[in-house]
Amino acid sequence: MANKDPIRIGVLFSETGVTSTIGRSQLQGTLLAIQEVNDAGGIDGREIVPVVYDACSSPAVYAQMAERLIVHDKVNVIFGCYMSSSRKAVLPVVEKWNRILFYPTLYEGFEFSNNIIYTGAAPNQNSVQLAEFMTANFGARVYLIGSDYIYPYESNRIMGELVLQRQDSDKVGERYVPLDATEKDFRPIIADILDKRPDFIFSTVVGDSTASLYRAYADAGLDPKTMPIASLTTSEAEIRQMGADVATGHFTAAPYFQSIQSDANLRCLERLRRRFGEDSVPNLCWEAAYFQVHIFANAFSQAGDDEIVNIMPHILGSEFEAPQGRVRIEPSNHHTCLYPRIGVANSKGQFTIVREATRPVHPDPYLVTHSLGDWTTTLSTLEL
Ligand code: ACM
Repeated sequence: MANKDPIRIGVLFSETGVTSTIGRSQLQGTLLAIQEVNDAGGIDGREIVPVVYDACSSPAVYAQMAERLIVHDKVNVIFGCYMSSSRKAVLPVVEKWNRILFYPTLYEGFEFSNNIIYTGAAPNQNSVQLAEFMTANFGARVYLIGSDYIYPYESNRIMGELVLQRQDSDKVGERYVPLDATEKDFRPIIADILDKRPDFIFSTVVGDSTASLYRAYADAGLDPKTMPIASLTTSEAEIRQMGADVATGHFTAAPYFQSIQSDANLRCLERLRRRFGEDSVPNLCWEAAYFQVHIFANAFSQAGDDEIVNIMPHILGSEFEAPQGRVRIEPSNHHTCLYPRIGVANSKGQFTIVREATRPVHPDPYLVTHSLGDWTTTLSTLEL
């Protein structure tokens, strides 16, 4: 008789704490995809049942909850994590128990685990494009500002190195703030920026304090037309927090923006609204959280179970028609072929897409073969 047992999976995002806005959106993306699979009859008749924990934006809680999901709840696969510090905390747990983590967030690269599937952008799929775009349009004197943890240090290092390939380039400042920083923490940095006058600011600030940075910038009377903020982490979710007026004119590089007009995206947004209402704020990490569940479900169907030895060969090389376009898991490095885009925030709290790749860019998490020129071969003709 066919196995009709439910399939339990672990879902580990932050519903509370400093990254809860983006964490809740990732949870919604995950639950939406689970609902879609279950509504279509489950995986070969088996319902997916998520075991959901709130990791409270704390790497230590992430590690504890990952262990609990594996040992107590007996899951083989966990979908979760936003901050790289949380992924770094979960990595040894999934490696120890030989389970799988699907990680739906852009990150700093320079990592590989046999036990992780990375569905967000690696630096050659967002930083390279952003560096090329910002230096071509605004100049190559950059001021780096980030939250105080691994992703900002590493992402700023990469951006600094990319920008310094340009003529007349300079890294004029580099500052870090606590994860719970408020406008008061940003004011002296904005004063320093006013003094140093970079061509653009690169922000690797994450979570709630993103709004405080952009507000401090606006309060100081700075103008995005001449000295914009460029980011990989300021999404529609952070813009909802800060208000569209404060965000307008600033740039973000991402494989997904809510404003993509493809049928796949428009249909997905409609289903999301039906399930979660107007409060949900789709963004790059929501989209990765969504499509990675479908990648898993398709691979499970082929493998027959989610033991790593059985399912991994079916995950690697698999493809899915995601809202951003057709994505593929690259077998050699467990990262994902994605479509780089650059958006400028507009008065509706959305991004106007000013550049987009015409074909997916292969992930190169160790930046082995990248150059600033990669992007130009995949540019559409859209103009700023
Ligand atoms: C991040 O910490 N990977 C945004």
